[in-house]
Amino acid sequence: MKILMVCLGNICRSPLAEGLLAHKAAQNNLDWTIDSAGTGDWHVGQLPNIRSIQVAKEHGIDLTNQRARQFKAEDLEHFDLIFAMDSSNFSNIISMAKNDEQKNKVILIRNMVEANMNLAVPDPYYSDLSAYQNVYQILDEACDKIIEKFRAN
Ligand code: 4NP
Repeated sequence: MKILMVCLGNICRSPLAEGLLAHKAAQNNLDWTIDSAGTGDWHVGQLPNIRSIQVAKEHGIDLTNQRARQFKAEDLEHFDLIFAMDSSNFSNIISMAKNDEQKNKVILIRNMVEANMNLAVPDPYYSDLSAYQNVYQILDEACDKIIEKFRAN
């Protein structure tokens, strides 16, 4: 499986999602490729936000090998599944899809836990460390569901 995590800047939420899912895939001996990207280009080439790095590190996950990149149309061809952090990311990705096959790859990540609720992973960029800890908990649960649902693929 090739899985892409997408948020706005690719420095706060999706790096945490990438790190968490890669960690869980390894723990489950799953040979998955996990990546992340942002719909915006402001932070391209940057390390994840220091608070995302800190929260991940507290859980034994290293994000410092990651660098931000922008989501591109080819990602819709290359990846099997694309998880959006919020409905704005979701709409931006869908607007770049060429056909229904590509559209069907895109999932709002919190719907893995609370189906059809269309809840957002809240953007923590302008908040303090507790917001990043909240994002971590939300993504931890969502990534468990991703493993559970797609581990046979
Ligand atoms: P992210 O958070 O989408 O979780 O990486 C943000 C990072 C940067 C900005 C917004 C959200 N920004 O406006 O630069």
